[in-house]
Amino acid sequence: MISRQNTPVQSWRGLPAAQQPTWPDEHALGTVLCDLAAAPPLVFAGECDQLRTRLASVARGEAFLLQGGDCAESFDAVSADQVRDKIKTLLQMAAVLTYASSVPVVKVGRIAGQYSKPRSQPTERRDGIELPAYRGDAVNSLEFTPEGRTPDPERLKRMYHASAATLNIVRAFTTGGYADLRQVHDWNQDFVASSPVGERYERLAREIDKALAFLKACAAEPSEFRSTEFFSSHEALLLDYESALTRKDSRTGQWYDVSAHLIWIGERTRQLDGAHVEFASRVRNPIAVKLGSAVGADEALALVDRLDPDREPGRLSFITRMGADKVRDVLPGLVEKVTASGAQVAWICDPMHGNTFTAPSGHKTRRFDDVLDEVKGFFEVHRELGTHPGGIHVELTGEDVTECVGGGAEIRLDDLAQRYESACDPRLNRYQSLDLAFQVAELYHHRRAPQGE
Ligand code: PEP
Ligand code: CO
Repeated sequence: MISRQNTPVQSWRGLPAAQQPTWPDEHALGTVLCDLAAAPPLVFAGECDQLRTRLASVARGEAFLLQGGDCAESFDAVSADQVRDKIKTLLQMAAVLTYASSVPVVKVGRIAGQYSKPRSQPTERRDGIELPAYRGDAVNSLEFTPEGRTPDPERLKRMYHASAATLNIVRAFTTGGYADLRQVHDWNQDFVASSPVGERYERLAREIDKALAFLKACAAEPSEFRSTEFFSSHEALLLDYESALTRKDSRTGQWYDVSAHLIWIGERTRQLDGAHVEFASRVRNPIAVKLGSAVGADEALALVDRLDPDREPGRLSFITRMGADKVRDVLPGLVEKVTASGAQVAWICDPMHGNTFTAPSGHKTRRFDDVLDEVKGFFEVHRELGTHPGGIHVELTGEDVTECVGGGAEIRLDDLAQRYESACDPRLNRYQSLDLAFQVAELYHHRRAPQGE
């Protein structure tokens, strides 16, 4: 049996690790970690390198990143239909963005591993009863009972198997002909025809139609007609799990976290002297870090030193989540100082996490207009500084849920209860996601034009 101490990347142990569950049975945890340490990789080192190359293009301004998926995946939702609908939505968004930006769109899902959540409170109180907070299906159950909320390490194994099953579906849908660009465009035309705001996007859809007709007339068959590159990502929160899934690449002798192509460090776990930054600094995967509005430029520069000491484009992405009301004030100083330091990070906008509020009904929600406004602010800042707005990071689903308000189909605060299914944060539904993609496409299209044009 491999002991916990012998599993690969361990240098983070002994450092303060925020947001870790208190597992009731250390021995049971150890047994699970041994199994995971012996399990086959979920992704391959070469694929992680490929994504790093793609993100280098993003950092240089030659590509755009679309990263999206659930706030928290759940074991119950590992079904071909649910995964398909998420992929379908992301592919539709990517098609529009590719056309409008005239650069490749790098597609990354918050998928196949997004099973653990940082929480602002360690416990939750309902009707005078206090229990541990839900920390994602990888840790405990959403069910508000003492048994449900007790962390169970067997769930880490379920996380691995759920991730494997999901990745299998993702790989089938993105390479098996389903992702054919012509089909994706047909879906977008359906959206334009059926959405209440569809006519706004007719021109763009018609232009894409013409471009595809032109390719057809030339008998061109780009490989994107048959398959598309798609990568997985999640927050590397549970360091026991992530480190058990590190493997040494036999080609280069370097360590990779083979649980996902890209891993990110969340806003609550990015302490410079903490375990998460130490862990990420030891693996070769592309790394992203979330940055909220309270971040100082010095802190961001220190993160660059820790995580990207060689200033290698594609290694490090900063996902900023400032809030629509702060992005225009806070982002410029940050981008300016990081750029001046010579670092070549990819700048990604998460317009979700800075714009959450609680509706009178008690539902956690976000306004579509705030989400869009943060993206607009992000583009404005980069345009002013002459830097590249590298991409967007969104919480979305392929289903018609009612979790965020506004958007083309105009979901109101009173509608939230109709179909609110997120185990954690509110997601854009299919229509809201496509609406956002068309609007971002227009922003990108005009980003070089002077204000007012
Ligand atoms: C998330 O991405 O779901 C999340 C918790 O984000 P952040 O770390 O930015 O708060
Ligand atoms: Co979230």
